[in-house]
Amino acid sequence: MDFLLKAFSLLTFIFFGVNSFAQTSTDKNTLKFNNGNIDEFVEWLDTRGEIINAHDGGIIFVSGKYYWYGLALRALGQDKGEKNGAATETGINLYSSNNLLEWNYEGVVLSTSNDVQSPLRSPMRLERPKIIYNKKTKKFVMWFHYVGYPGNHGQEIGFADAGVAVSDKITGPFKYIGHHRPINDSGAVKDCTLFMENDSTAYFIFDRKMPDGSRCLHITKLSDDFLHTTDTWAKIDVANRREAPTVIKQNGTYFLVTSDVSGWKANAAKTYKSSDIFGPWAEAGNPCVGEQKESTYNTQCTYAFKVSVTENSYIIMLERHNTSNFLKCSYVWLPIEIDKNQQLYFSYKKEWYLDSMFSSKE
Ligand code: GAL
Repeated sequence: MDFLLKAFSLLTFIFFGVNSFAQTSTDKNTLKFNNGNIDEFVEWLDTRGEIINAHDGGIIFVSGKYYWYGLALRALGQDKGEKNGAATETGINLYSSNNLLEWNYEGVVLSTSNDVQSPLRSPMRLERPKIIYNKKTKKFVMWFHYVGYPGNHGQEIGFADAGVAVSDKITGPFKYIGHHRPINDSGAVKDCTLFMENDSTAYFIFDRKMPDGSRCLHITKLSDDFLHTTDTWAKIDVANRREAPTVIKQNGTYFLVTSDVSGWKANAAKTYKSSDIFGPWAEAGNPCVGEQKESTYNTQCTYAFKVSVTENSYIIMLERHNTSNFLKCSYVWLPIEIDKNQQLYFSYKKEWYLDSMFSSKE
């Protein structure tokens, strides 16, 4: 009953948010997610009219609002070296919204530094940041793929590690805690994500690259305060040479969506499934269907989040990389479907309305 009430109030909130925007907006087109054509870079604007600059991040729902955070990229393109273009001179940006469509800029929540001694010396990378809330410590904890100044990937410690920052408020400022290599202090940390259970147990999932060049996704349980990795870990053997991990759980099944390894060039996504987060995981195919499924619709996955407490209401956040100007990378958000056979998929939609997620399930 409690669950139903929660589901109802959240749905009411979502519809109210979207509908109230509809009533005041003169342009109904602003109410939909606009992913554009598969070869198009659509500019998603914030309420100031500026391009949303929050890359490879995620969404967290706090006190009735959605917060979208991500890496603030620079406008450099291939002419200046794509490695540098992917670095940040700013840090992590935050936006807030009541309806997932209108985004207010909240500012920089974790800043890089001009101090040459600082571990956050600019430019650097804070790639694929993810934030979860720790109920016990009442703190927001952010994990990311840490790459120190000048932001070029490397094998040495300080150029491919797990970084952690913490804040009392989602709006920051986040305090940088440090960076390290989970699991015996060995293996470079590349793409990563966080997953939190309903019981507040949390995990750091990452691409671990060993000195011999082998790489595979690994999972480690976080400490109770979420600030450290622990000795409880597993290698996700089947996810060999996979990147851009994101995890959701539905009816007791964990789904791990990943990309292949090809730098910024788009490739085919692959899903893995398990009933235990520590495995064994089984391959569950390409989650994309139809045209351009082998390129994940010319995108790479970033994160997936639950829109409401009802079943199957997840959105996957994907990113269409633009190496000629990283500020013009575009966002592609799609509703996730999980069918009766527990197969997860998402099909391309040039544009779609949030409320279609709910009406299709009635
Ligand atoms: C991608 C990875 C990105 C970024 C990029 C750099 O494969 O998913 O997060 O690191 O490589 O080339």
